[in-house]
Amino acid sequence: MIDAQDYAEFSRFLSECCGLVLGENRQYLVSSRLSRLLDEFSFEKVEDLLRALRRSPDPLLRSRVIDAMTTNETSWFRDVYPFEILRHDVLPGLSKEKKAVKVWSAACSSGQEPYSIAMVFAEWEATYPPKTVSLNILATDLSEGVLQEARAGIYDELSIARGLSPERRQRYFDAVENGHRIKPEIQRRVRFQRLNLMDSYAALGKFDIVFCRNVLIYFSAETKRRIFDGIARQMDRGAYLFVGASEAVSSYTDAFEMIRTPRGSVLRRR
Ligand SMILES: C[S@@+](CC[C@H](N)C(=O)[O-])C[C@H]1O[C@@H](n2cnc3c(N)ncnc32)[C@H](O)[C@@H]1O
Repeated sequence: MIDAQDYAEFSRFLSECCGLVLGENRQYLVSSRLSRLLDEFSFEKVEDLLRALRRSPDPLLRSRVIDAMTTNETSWFRDVYPFEILRHDVLPGLSKEKKAVKVWSAACSSGQEPYSIAMVFAEWEATYPPKTVSLNILATDLSEGVLQEARAGIYDELSIARGLSPERRQRYFDAVENGHRIKPEIQRRVRFQRLNLMDSYAALGKFDIVFCRNVLIYFSAETKRRIFDGIARQMDRGAYLFVGASEAVSSYTDAFEMIRTPRGSVLRRR
């Protein structure tokens, strides 16, 4: 069993370096999530790994531990309604004002979210006569592991089955030996980059649409406040923010107003 001091230090490490708040008495969770790393780094017990983490600045060990503790759960068109709002309520308006629409998928995991956005844009573009608007998506995540999967754009049967209609699967993927590869016309719209939401975003520039979904759930209120304020600074008035279904952004910042549509709600920068 992890002792109280090791647990407290590990909790502090996680909250400082990636925002994750473990809470009380989650020793079992820590042991079970880290147990897979023991062989890889030749440790006998989880406690040895935690102590090495304290002593060693090894970036590989740190990032593998963070990866093991965070959840990368995602799917295509997750929750459906944000992508419907994007298609019917956001893109038509923005396309009248802009020649280039900039999107940020701020915790993109293995790429399903930004690629779903690119598919929505392709479908909307096909029915929108002027075709003078371009879309650029920056997709970021803390984890190099998921970014590698996202960049490769190859998905196995199980992940392809989660959220994709048979038509989209047919239209946007090519069968390859080890799964289904996203087509280049979707892939080239998305640029992947490593970014920790605990760091500054000032260098990223401004965005018209931001997706920051299902990542801040386990962060402290103070960290959420800082992150939502940081995101708001990268958005001009009128830009749109999509968050996870259970995230109450108004408790942390007043930078956004809630816009209700027949398909659901989205936040807009005041
Ligand atoms: C549950 S997934 C959500 C993926 C996608 N947004 C969705 O809703 O399906 C959460 C992602 O957040 C990433 N993450 C966790 N902490 C982070 C941080 N401090 N900065 C950036 N990304 C982080 C994880 O690596 C993971 O890929």
